[in-house]
Amino acid sequence: MNWIHVPVMAKEVLHYFSNLNGIFVDCTVGAGGHSEAVLSNIVGSVVIGFDVDDDALQLAKRRLSEFEKQGRFYLVKSSYVHVRDVLKQLGVSSVSGILMDLGMSTLQLTNSERGFAFSMDGPLDMRMNRDQKLTAYDVVNFWTEEQLRKLFFEYAEEKRYAKRIASFIVKHRPIGTTQELAKIVARALPESEKRTRKRHFATKVFQAIRIAVNNELDNLKNFLSYAPELLCNGGRIVVISFHSLEDRIVKESFRSSELLKVVTKKPVRPTDEEMASNPKSRSAKMRVAERR
Ligand SMILES: C[S@@+](CC[C@H](N)C(=O)[O-])C[C@H]1O[C@@H](n2cnc3c(N)ncnc32)[C@H](O)[C@@H]1O
Repeated sequence: MNWIHVPVMAKEVLHYFSNLNGIFVDCTVGAGGHSEAVLSNIVGSVVIGFDVDDDALQLAKRRLSEFEKQGRFYLVKSSYVHVRDVLKQLGVSSVSGILMDLGMSTLQLTNSERGFAFSMDGPLDMRMNRDQKLTAYDVVNFWTEEQLRKLFFEYAEEKRYAKRIASFIVKHRPIGTTQELAKIVARALPESEKRTRKRHFATKVFQAIRIAVNNELDNLKNFLSYAPELLCNGGRIVVISFHSLEDRIVKESFRSSELLKVVTKKPVRPTDEEMASNPKSRSAKMRVAERR
């Protein structure tokens, strides 16, 4: 069956989990690709999977129903920020492995209604969790020019053009859809600048808004601040990130934790073969640490 979302660096995840058994936490279960890989390849493993997106939860539930029946897969609708509380409620005192696969799933990216993609027109939404109130529309239309400038400066790393993009947005409000926004960003950037960029000129602005809507960096910092305590001795945490802001947080939090030994001195990258067959994997960086 075609499950739409191909898990990124699944072989590498299994490699770093290969000497472990017992309970694993999949913080970002998505379409369940990584969870399935763990359950199918690590004998007797149990996975507790978290996600906040109802579409993802539905898909993962279907895909992993056999494991669920066997009592090897538990699905929880919750932000990974609350993993500690959920494990406590389940009576789990420590786990062998923790996996985070950050970023968007193909399911989210290819549904124009979710408003994550500038390549298709859709409402400015970008919520991973559709129970939450704040949407991309609110950020784009109601944040002050200074808030937007700061957002693009910090999270889009638009060091030079943050102010110009923010000012163009404020001048053209209200902005209703993803393509309206992309066009305004295009107008804010000089032609010469657009030509020199490797990625689409709106990628980073969309990324910044998504980070703000979903509180992504604070969630990551918050979870990583206590995640090492959840691991048993020798247990491992594997994080796959997709941009430098996330990767920096992962790197620093692994290095500064007294409970962790860094396993991957440099981030592990997908093979050329994987990058060719799954372009989404191109920006992936994986870091692994082990509980001392
Ligand atoms: C890249 S996808 C994961 C794909 C998955 N590894 C697979 O193999 O199918 C990331 C997932 O993380 C979820 N997510 C984002 N923020 C979250 C949070 N704070 N807590 C739990 N899940 C979150 C998204 O809804 C999305 O489904």
